Amino acid sequence: MNQTKMFELRARFTAADLLSLLLILSSYLKAESAIGVNWGTISFHRLKPSTVVDLLNDNRVQKVKLFEAEPDVMKALMGSGIQVMVGIPNEMLASLSSSTLASDLWVRQNVSRYTGKGGIDIRYVAVGNEPFLSSYSGQYESYVMPALLNLQQSLAKANLAGYVKLVVPCNADAYESDLPSQGAFRPELAQVMTQLVSFLNTIGSPFVVNIYPFLSLYGNSDFPQDYAFFEGTTHAVTDGPNVYYNAFDGNFDTLVAALNKIGYGQMPIVIGEVGWPTDGAIGANLTAARVFNQGLINHVLSNKGTPLRPGVPPMDIYLFSLLDEGAKSILPGAFERHWGIFSFDGQAKYPLNLGLGNRLLKNAKNVQYLPSRWCVANPSTDLSDVTNHMKLACGVADCTTLNYGGSCNGIGAKGNISYAFNSYYQLQMQNSQSCDFDGLGMVTFLDPSVGDCRFLVGVTDVKSSSFRPVCRWAIPWVLILWGFWVFVI
Ligand SMILES: *[C@@H]1O[C@H](CO)[C@@H](O)[C@H](O)[C@H]1NC(C)=O
Ligand SMILES: *[C@@H]1O[C@H](CO)[C@@H](O)[C@H](O)[C@H]1NC(C)=O
Ligand SMILES: *[C@@H]1O[C@H](CO)[C@@H](O)[C@H](O)[C@H]1NC(C)=O
Repeated sequence: MNQTKMFELRARFTAADLLSLLLILSSYLKAESAIGVNWGTISFHRLKPSTVVDLLNDNRVQKVKLFEAEPDVMKALMGSGIQVMVGIPNEMLASLSSSTLASDLWVRQNVSRYTGKGGIDIRYVAVGNEPFLSSYSGQYESYVMPALLNLQQSLAKANLAGYVKLVVPCNADAYESDLPSQGAFRPELAQVMTQLVSFLNTIGSPFVVNIYPFLSLYGNSDFPQDYAFFEGTTHAVTDGPNVYYNAFDGNFDTLVAALNKIGYGQMPIVIGEVGWPTDGAIGANLTAARVFNQGLINHVLSNKGTPLRPGVPPMDIYLFSLLDEGAKSILPGAFERHWGIFSFDGQAKYPLNLGLGNRLLKNAKNVQYLPSRWCVANPSTDLSDVTNHMKLACGVADCTTLNYGGSCNGIGAKGNISYAFNSYYQLQMQNSQSCDFDGLGMVTFLDPSVGDCRFLVGVTDVKSSSFRPVCRWAIPWVLILWGFWVFVI
């Protein structure tokens, strides 16, 4: 075989096979990488960050979105190969907008420090979290653009601007319309949105949006329930030549139309948050969450796209959320603490195929629980005087499952009391004094859970600054005092 022939053969192989190989690879990579998760940490009972990273790996999740650069979380992600979107809280926008020193420092401490070999694959920095939310009444609005400009400069100085992209996750309330094709940004946001989108386009960043059909259903009793899901609807929305069968597509295309209106109809879109809660409200339950999330994932991975972007699904979808966060504010509703596809302790709530290779979710391994014991109402006491104790317990601990529509709503008056006592007791790391309640509480070793209503047992790693000292020190002291007392008598 002469040189030319060999070369020809090789060339033929390269051309044809490489192309198909690339096609296979790219479709594989595409399907493999579309679904990520939000990892929030506002919880009384925190899993160790390394346990959560193992959980992500076991479930083949390769993309994670963080709300801030917490050092212990960042450390756990080092060397994991997981792609990270790291967030900057809204409260920091003012200082980042007014000082390049502040933005340089932020980039140095929360990005540069972690990049490089064996570090974290930081792909995006989310500047603020829904800073234009209408309920903030514009308080962060003027900081967003200057903060972006400062941070872009700081990234450039750190030689990271080509790789790490700035984004601004927006709530879907940034735009509105009855029909998707009429979509437009809220009039008061028109100017800042035009600046923002043009800037994102310049630096090659996508538009990040959070879409919540659950909130549409929750906030509007006229909203047709089947339109929130992906199973076919009797309430399809006809918009000129286009027909919408689910709220997600309708919402997505409203954004596409709004972007189009300001000249950026082709801008790539990432879904920063989307999901369904499982507890704390009517319509927030395991079945609905499973049906919604599975329907969403299948819909996105089918690559069908939407009527305004046929065949072009969103770039990435970050499910909200990975874990329940029992210490979140319940201002939006009691469901706010129950968005996780896993409960606070990393246990799968329902069967879900993320489309990443596993047919089902895998539970967290090596979770370190407190001992199997619970605090309940003492049946041999008169519980008529318990109101204040319940208020105290539920004022700090999480009792949202007791709400109307919640998984523990039907457990009766005594059940309510026990649930409240136990939540508080676990929050206090099972400190025995925390189950006293003036003699109305007692510790039991029998799991008081009934049906779907689960009485939790805490995990050993707590994160709540106000409780940490109490939790870390109260137990040893109680044990020491108790040991001393036993020794003396
Ligand atoms: C880095 O991020 C953390 C978490 O949001 C924040 O507390 C810290 O102030 C940031 N560092 C700088 C220098 O801004
Ligand atoms: C769960 O929620 C859905 C709507 O979100 C509702 O149709 C269904 O009846 C609920 N199921 C239960 C068991 O409450
Ligand atoms: C238990 O508490 C919930 C939430 O406060 C309440 O809706 C429910 O009626 C209570 N149940 C009883 C039997 O008091």
